[in-house]
Amino acid sequence: MVLPRRDAILLFLCVITVPFATAGPSFTVDYKKDCFLKDGEPFRYISGSIHYSRVPRVYWKDRLLKMYMAGLNAIQTYIPWNFHEPTPGLYDFTGDRDLPHFLQLCQDIGLLVILRPGPYICAEWDMGGLPSWLLKKKDIVLRSSDPGYITAVDKWMGKLLPMIKPFLYQNGGPIITVQVENEYGSYFACDYNYLRHLAKLFRSHLGEQVVLFTTDGASVGYLKCGALEGAYATVDFGPGGNVTAAFEAQRYAEARGPLVNSEFYTGWLDHWGEPHSVIPTAVVVKSLNEMLEIGANVNLYMFIGGTNFGYWNGANSPYAPQPTSYDYDALLTEAGDLTEKYFAVRDVIKMYKKIPDGVVPPSTPKFAYGPVEMKKLRTVSESLDILSFSGPVKSPYPLTFVELNQAFGFMLYQTTLPIDCSKPTPLSSPFNGVHDRAYVTIDGVVAGILERDKAISINVTGKAGSHIHILVENMGRVNYGKGINDFKGLVSNLTLGADTLTNWTVYSLSIDEAVRDGLIWEAGVRRASSSANPSPPPAALSQPTFYGGTFQIPDGIPDLPQDTYLQFPNWSKGQVWINGFNLGRYWPSRGPQVTIFVPAHVLSTRAVNNVTILELEAAPCSPGPCVVKFTDTPIINATVKAITPCMREPLNTQHHSWLH
Ligand SMILES: *[C@@H]1O[C@H](CO)[C@@H](O)[C@H](O)[C@H]1NC(C)=O
Ligand SMILES: *[C@@H]1O[C@H](CO)[C@@H](O)[C@H](O)[C@H]1NC(C)=O
Ligand SMILES: *[C@@H]1O[C@H](CO)[C@@H](O)[C@H](O)[C@H]1NC(C)=O
Ligand SMILES: *[C@@H]1O[C@H](CO)[C@@H](O)[C@H](O)[C@H]1NC(C)=O
Ligand SMILES: *[C@@H]1O[C@H](CO)[C@@H](O)[C@H](O)[C@H]1NC(C)=O
Ligand SMILES: *[C@@H]1O[C@H](CO)[C@@H](O)[C@H](O)[C@H]1NC(C)=O
Ligand SMILES: *[C@@H]1O[C@H](CO)[C@@H](O)[C@H](O)[C@H]1NC(C)=O
Repeated sequence: MVLPRRDAILLFLCVITVPFATAGPSFTVDYKKDCFLKDGEPFRYISGSIHYSRVPRVYWKDRLLKMYMAGLNAIQTYIPWNFHEPTPGLYDFTGDRDLPHFLQLCQDIGLLVILRPGPYICAEWDMGGLPSWLLKKKDIVLRSSDPGYITAVDKWMGKLLPMIKPFLYQNGGPIITVQVENEYGSYFACDYNYLRHLAKLFRSHLGEQVVLFTTDGASVGYLKCGALEGAYATVDFGPGGNVTAAFEAQRYAEARGPLVNSEFYTGWLDHWGEPHSVIPTAVVVKSLNEMLEIGANVNLYMFIGGTNFGYWNGANSPYAPQPTSYDYDALLTEAGDLTEKYFAVRDVIKMYKKIPDGVVPPSTPKFAYGPVEMKKLRTVSESLDILSFSGPVKSPYPLTFVELNQAFGFMLYQTTLPIDCSKPTPLSSPFNGVHDRAYVTIDGVVAGILERDKAISINVTGKAGSHIHILVENMGRVNYGKGINDFKGLVSNLTLGADTLTNWTVYSLSIDEAVRDGLIWEAGVRRASSSANPSPPPAALSQPTFYGGTFQIPDGIPDLPQDTYLQFPNWSKGQVWINGFNLGRYWPSRGPQVTIFVPAHVLSTRAVNNVTILELEAAPCSPGPCVVKFTDTPIINATVKAITPCMREPLNTQHHSWLH
């Protein structure tokens, strides 16, 4: 192919600029010659997205090295605010959250950094990265000049940006550009004062020289509210479309300056209950080539997607949460493995710039540790004493997660049947009244499941005074659009027949702490030996219950532990921990994700390893084997059975670019 030539001409034009003799490193926008200038020289980046929050720290270097070896010269990353400030004023930059270490690694490996500190990031991340404690002010207008919001943003940025400053390019670090907000043009508020405030705030902490930019969908409509004077406007769009037309949108906001696609989609996101997204390599390669040919700067979103460990996934509206895997059909798999797409993209880049010499780091080996027998430990309802440290709160009407200062996971709502329900009586929530899934039992017998936007009524029977337990799962906060004020829990009253249920006892649950401290196991073992209750008859549903199993890493095999995948044969839906590390949600009964990625570093060769599961719907244990199984092959694309109509249009290659 002779395609590189046009690019060479373009760069040549840029070279004519007489660079100012500057002292020290500099990075600027050249509006005359339509390019970036790095140390006064024309510069074009080919970058890729890696979210450090989705890759275990032990693998940061491996993923960055693979990026470097593909010929990319920059990495783009988001900073999720809620990952670093779990409680107002308490900051965490340790371990997997050690942002300075990540930035240093990028620099050591030879990658520049395009930083996206938000405060809002979208990213298919819980609440688009905003901390849920912002919702303590009930009517807060997020992403606007609302004083409650601005005060928190100012405080956070006052902590974050001074940490960033030494890593700016002009200060000897790797960061060349810093994004303000994210796709603000697709948010309803369209509050220019808010964007201006952010730009001023960023400059006050980072200095006047910092190159700020914005990113919006590639259409004039988005740029109207998204572009901001003093920040360079860029666009984002996926493969398969008209590259020239897309960049014309950027030219609406920036008549001159470098062409930049800040999010070129190498794949696409998934939702539970929808088929796994796959974008053919040929489509990606073609559009990438077209962009590089005209000298554009491109960021590959994603280079590696990684994993939504714990509870970090977000959701779209109408409510559709994303699964644990953020594989994204990217250049590297969720587990960091090289793909055909990686090598194809590398071949394209090769036509435009020199690729580093040396060996591409190989994919990590995977090991199938085999089946682990699981034993029932105890139900959630039996465990309230160890799960709710501070005890319950009484309230006439249901309280939300934020009202009890709980961010993630599960809460339990308890009340009694006010009347005899000898005939099946509907227990109902208004539409969208349960955030997000409610597992209902009456006197320990499962009555059914309410699900946001999908199932709003079940029939119950029971005597007056029977105990109703409703375990409510937060399945991830909406990360895009108006719905980001996503309160969790029972966000509406429930009715039984014609009556509103009242007199609630609400338990905030610290399940992660209890799992980590082994409390569920100790309690479970004690109970199991003294339990005289026969197991209830097998039914379609069983009440939310903890299960545990142990396994050892085999001796005599070199280089163990290795990465692996956990499979849940005939289990339904729940949360899984290994040695206290929350690996995320499993939901093979809905798909498309079937296996859960288990990075080797959570496994121990010294001690026996523990798997803890909270199964919410139905365990396969009686009758039948009760095992989970470690395999060496991921399955994230299982055929999804038809479920309640999902209310979303099917995705195709004509992607909505504003979802990030
Ligand atoms: C792409 O868009 C440009 C600018 O709008 C237009 O001139 C061109 O014809 C389009 N190309 C194709 C193949 O549609
Ligand atoms: C509840 O029971 C009524 C009467 O038996 C029935 O018509 C209705 O479909 C049931 N609702 C659900 C959600 O099962
Ligand atoms: C529940 O109903 C009561 C009484 O009508 C009302 O005051 C309260 O706001 C309702 N709670 C919710 C969450 O809708
Ligand atoms: C709720 O609790 C109050 C106070 O304990 C009691 O007077 C009232 O009868 C209860 N209401 C219901 C419906 O149980
Ligand atoms: C899963 O359930 C099916 C149907 O009950 C059964 O045939 C199969 O053996 C089960 N698989 C495992 C691994 O337990
Ligand atoms: C697994 O749990 C047991 C019992 O609580 C504990 O002794 C052991 O250290 C745990 N293993 C690991 C690797 O944490
Ligand atoms: C899932 O992915 C695997 C590996 O890429 C592929 O072999 C298989 O055909 C896919 N299955 C479905 C149902 O798409």
